[in-house]
Amino acid sequence: MWRYWREHLNPYRARVHHGRTKLDGRRIVITGASSGIGRATALRVSAEGGIPLLLARRAEELEEVRTEIRSNGGAAYAYPCDLTDPESVRKTVDQMLAEQPAIDMLVNNAGRSIRRSVRLSYDRFHDYERAMAINYFGALRLILALLPHMTERKFGHIVNVSSIGVQGIAPRFSAYVASKSALDQFSKVAATETFGDGVTFTTVHMPLVRTPMIRPTKIYDAFPAKSPEQAADMIIQALEERPKHMGTGVGFIMQLAYAISPDLVDAIAYQGYRIFPDSTAAGGQGRVKLGKSERQLSKAAAALVRMTRGIHW
Ligand SMILES: NC(=O)c1ccc[n+]([C@@H]2O[C@H](COP(=O)([O-])OP(=O)(O)OC[C@H]3O[C@@H](n4cnc5c(N)ncnc54)[C@H](OP(=O)(O)O)[C@@H]3O)[C@@H](O)[C@H]2O)c1
Repeated sequence: MWRYWREHLNPYRARVHHGRTKLDGRRIVITGASSGIGRATALRVSAEGGIPLLLARRAEELEEVRTEIRSNGGAAYAYPCDLTDPESVRKTVDQMLAEQPAIDMLVNNAGRSIRRSVRLSYDRFHDYERAMAINYFGALRLILALLPHMTERKFGHIVNVSSIGVQGIAPRFSAYVASKSALDQFSKVAATETFGDGVTFTTVHMPLVRTPMIRPTKIYDAFPAKSPEQAADMIIQALEERPKHMGTGVGFIMQLAYAISPDLVDAIAYQGYRIFPDSTAAGGQGRVKLGKSERQLSKAAAALVRMTRGIHW
């Protein structure tokens, strides 16, 4: 009888986990699983025994990830979905809830980056709308759709892939960082309301990662960046340990410096703004002062990059 109560009637049974690893058997929605960090995270979740539910628009790429996971002996499900389309999200969530016994966790990773200075954005209000559409409203739509399920089960964990830019220095990323900050702040407030239901949030202030997202910005070829696998390691840690916040030492120092002396941080950031130009795709010159080799930054630029490792200038 005790066993029956524990497995079927205990209102907190979803929190109790008996798996081989912390993620064993956990069903985890991963958005943006067709590429970069999301793809690497899906593979790692599966290696830890979890069952990734893969979301993104490109069905073929999702199928490739699912096939790779299955050929490694894992289980995964693909749900093609456009997170900026309310109808697409509604249908996908209904389908997932009908097909899956439960959804334990959500990684809000799908996103879009825009690198363009405010000066070149005077007539580009749509940049701000597009960034919000996916980075904030897309993630928010999914959170609101899954929260009733999670609160009813008295368990859920939500990981938001935010950016190191939110922590202090991010010239040219006003559209992007504003949209990431919106999700950070929403989650901060929501966490105070879902605490009693066992639903928790982690915000990952991710540094620069070498993925298709940063490919159009040629100067990043000369910047140190994490690999998608290293980024996935951070997300796995966020899923397993469920801290409030994760990030890098540089990000933390920036945040602290901004809290103590925001003017000094602005002055440093302004030097970066001058050294690293708008890329040609963003309507700028795209030329950075290079060293002897085309792939090397000038000494000043290289020193700034080293000092602010992981920051996307
Ligand atoms: N790379 C970095 O340096 C870096 C740094 C800090 C934070 N981040 C954040 O990390 C996350 C992952 O980025 P990444 O670098 O891995 O970029 P990526 O390789 O370009 O992947 C972006 C993912 O988002 C998905 N996506 C975009 N729009 C979507 C939509 N409307 N509906 C559903 N899915 C959508 C894409 O899938 P489809 O095209 O198939 O829809 C793709 O899987 C993003 O939130 C990004 O802001 C990245």
